[in-house]
Amino acid sequence: MAQFNFGGMMEEVIMDEEFPLQKAREILKDEIVAVLGYGVQGPGQALNMRDNGINVIVGQRENSASWDRAVADGFVPGKTLFPVVEAARQATIIQYLLSDAGQMAVWPQIKECLADGNTLYFSHGFSIVYHDQTAIVPPKNVDVVLVAPKGSGRTVRSNFLDGSGINSSFAIHQDYTGNAREKTLALGIAIGSGYLFPTTFTKEVHSDLTGERGVLMGCLAGVMEAQYNLLRKNGHSPSEAFNETVEELTQSLIRLVAENGMDWMFASCSTTAQRGALDWAPRFRDAVAPVFDELYAKVISGEETKRVLEANSAPDYREKLEKELKVIKESEMWQTGAMVRSLRPENRKK
Ligand SMILES: NC(=O)c1ccc[n+]([C@@H]2O[C@H](COP(=O)([O-])OP(=O)(O)OC[C@H]3O[C@@H](n4cnc5c(N)ncnc54)[C@H](OP(=O)(O)O)[C@@H]3O)[C@@H](O)[C@H]2O)c1
Repeated sequence: MAQFNFGGMMEEVIMDEEFPLQKAREILKDEIVAVLGYGVQGPGQALNMRDNGINVIVGQRENSASWDRAVADGFVPGKTLFPVVEAARQATIIQYLLSDAGQMAVWPQIKECLADGNTLYFSHGFSIVYHDQTAIVPPKNVDVVLVAPKGSGRTVRSNFLDGSGINSSFAIHQDYTGNAREKTLALGIAIGSGYLFPTTFTKEVHSDLTGERGVLMGCLAGVMEAQYNLLRKNGHSPSEAFNETVEELTQSLIRLVAENGMDWMFASCSTTAQRGALDWAPRFRDAVAPVFDELYAKVISGEETKRVLEANSAPDYREKLEKELKVIKESEMWQTGAMVRSLRPENRKK
């Protein structure tokens, strides 16, 4: 087991050097892994495992765009693609990758498919941790494990194809067979994780719900919009406001952060920019801190979970989400973004 110093704290990390794909294949060779749900995370994990030689079937409700996508991706109805419950019945390992609201809805049937010694796998601690709301309480005679890729399902697949991988956390909630850890790590390697780091179901869901509502998505969208609006209000053109808010970030500066950290990005900008950024960063940190406190409290209390389950259990939840995303897409800011992207040299040549 390798330990690394993360900012002064020693933490465990599992990589394919010590847990090679061959070992994962060996551990999983007699298992039938059913990936239930072919939404965002399902395709990434299912395709990576299939390419890695794991025995994978997909469970997806029929007559849906997701079913058609699974067929287009080479899963064969009746052979490797089945309705959700049918796939669950055949599985020794169930990867429960329906939407979190979908997991709650279908659980009474999935529970019946779990045989002694099977594995129930999640990519989010949501269903288990908030079991008072989801009513998902697995039987005692199965392993209950988690591998949560720290990225979109799309990048789980694209990073696998370009060889880079996505880091994932892993956790064991219930170890009935005594082999839960080996199986979890094998699954984590098989889905193409860059490295695996330990967590608990509770820590995973608390950090994940905070991160996506915060810096990764909600906060990012909010601060971008605030700056764009400020510049527009003060007479800057849409092109200037967008370039100064989004394009410079995504095409240049965030890449430098990814490459070598925040100080490297700062150091790669003018001393004028550095002086201003160093002065203003603490102002922004302190301004948003109370919002983050409120967000974390709502995650812990289960209020965020309640909101997700209510909204995403509605029969027309997808249409509603799409309607809200359409508003963003059609806003001046993101219409400007579409034009800016189309003018990138690589897109002009197409
Ligand atoms: N999205 C990510 O990148 C990501 C990253 C890390 C972890 N996770 C976790 O991975 C899990 C799957 O997330 P996801 O984003 O892939 O979910 P998603 O895209 O919302 O997946 C939806 C899947 O669930 C099915 N579904 C929804 N409600 C259903 C119901 N009532 N009955 C049957 N099927 C239903 C959908 O079928 P239809 O298409 O037919 O509606 C689709 O196959 C979640 O636990 C999530 O928190 C996701």
